[in-house]
Amino acid sequence: MIVHNATLPDGQTGVDILISDGLIQAVGPNIQATALEEIDADGRLVSPPLIDCHFHMDATLSLGLPRLNRSGTLLEGIALWNELKPLLTQEALLERGLRYCDMAVAQGIGAIRTHVDVCDDRLVGVEAMVELRARVSSYLTLQLVAFPQDGLYRSPTAMQNLMRALDLGVDVIGGIPHFERTMEDGRRSVTEMCELGANLGRMVDLHCDESDDPLSRHVEQFAYETQRLGLGGRVTGSHLTSMHSMDNYYASKLIALIAESGMAAISNPLINITLQGRHDTYPRRRGLTRVPELQAAGVPVAFGQDCVMDPWYSMGSGDMLEVAHMGVHAVPMTSMDQIRSAFDAVTSVPASIMNLEGYGLTPGCKADLIVLDAADPVEAVRIKPPRLHVIRGGKVLARSAPRTSSLNVPGRPGMVTFGRGISPA
Ligand code: FE2
Repeated sequence: MIVHNATLPDGQTGVDILISDGLIQAVGPNIQATALEEIDADGRLVSPPLIDCHFHMDATLSLGLPRLNRSGTLLEGIALWNELKPLLTQEALLERGLRYCDMAVAQGIGAIRTHVDVCDDRLVGVEAMVELRARVSSYLTLQLVAFPQDGLYRSPTAMQNLMRALDLGVDVIGGIPHFERTMEDGRRSVTEMCELGANLGRMVDLHCDESDDPLSRHVEQFAYETQRLGLGGRVTGSHLTSMHSMDNYYASKLIALIAESGMAAISNPLINITLQGRHDTYPRRRGLTRVPELQAAGVPVAFGQDCVMDPWYSMGSGDMLEVAHMGVHAVPMTSMDQIRSAFDAVTSVPASIMNLEGYGLTPGCKADLIVLDAADPVEAVRIKPPRLHVIRGGKVLARSAPRTSSLNVPGRPGMVTFGRGISPA
């Protein structure tokens, strides 16, 4: 396969990409080769796939089961999930998961890290997600996190179940320190999960301080343990929303500690902007972690989808460009460089957090790429265009038509097109 005349995320234009044996063989101008399939990108953006490094596949598409979240809070979402959990079956989880994966692939997602609740002694969710991972592996990479949703110590069998989940093939160690009974229990859970990660050679990704509490200190403990145990590059703090509300002096010290430790961060803009600040009257906090400040300190920051139509969030469509778009608004991060970094936060940064092999657009990388109906990353985030071609291993997995409308207004008949070249240089 050859993809002609691509614009790459780094700004290179007029680039051809030669693919064979499932790998990118050459990248450059005017590549001459015979190919079975040729795709003319016509100057459009060609990127490695979108990556979602924070999701809950076991809860997705369950909206309304068994009822809706009335308060809109994280805590009612957890209570509601606990009403649904005993009713879950492997068949239903698999069916909803496959349906979501179809939507994800059609929109150019190549890999998803999904947290899987282990606080159900049946481990029906774990078994369903391990099965789902195998079923979709030829077209979508799933990475599973053993997530003790009800608290590692608060739920009596959580630790035992977490170990069982790892034995069943779950990849990453999860946790939720801010949901433990006390700050001290939360602190201990961070230490225990990091030590487990060090002993087993596993990655660690904790839901950490997903609260509006300015005095929560689990992020500090997490950075400390990451540094003490030398886990940099394998450890991720998800949400970190308490940092939004912290004292500015303390946050400036904490961000330096996070950077020093090598920990990465994941913000989930769609969810954090709707779940945080729910106990405020006015002014009402936005609640996202300090993305530009973390980036400036050199901390890799990715954006995750987190939820689609589940007990915590009734919206969502599986589109990582929608996630990036919300990040630009809710952080806010509106300079051209920042919008480009929002695109990186749903592509290259989460790929590095998940330690995905062969990700990128250089010779030797996997031939996984998407052709977007946009001129560049800024325009992609702005208009969330159709993914015209979704390619994995050199084969087209999905195609979409460009977005156009036929217009019939006085004096302006014709087709309306969206984007393509309107973005500033
Ligand atoms: Fe989450």
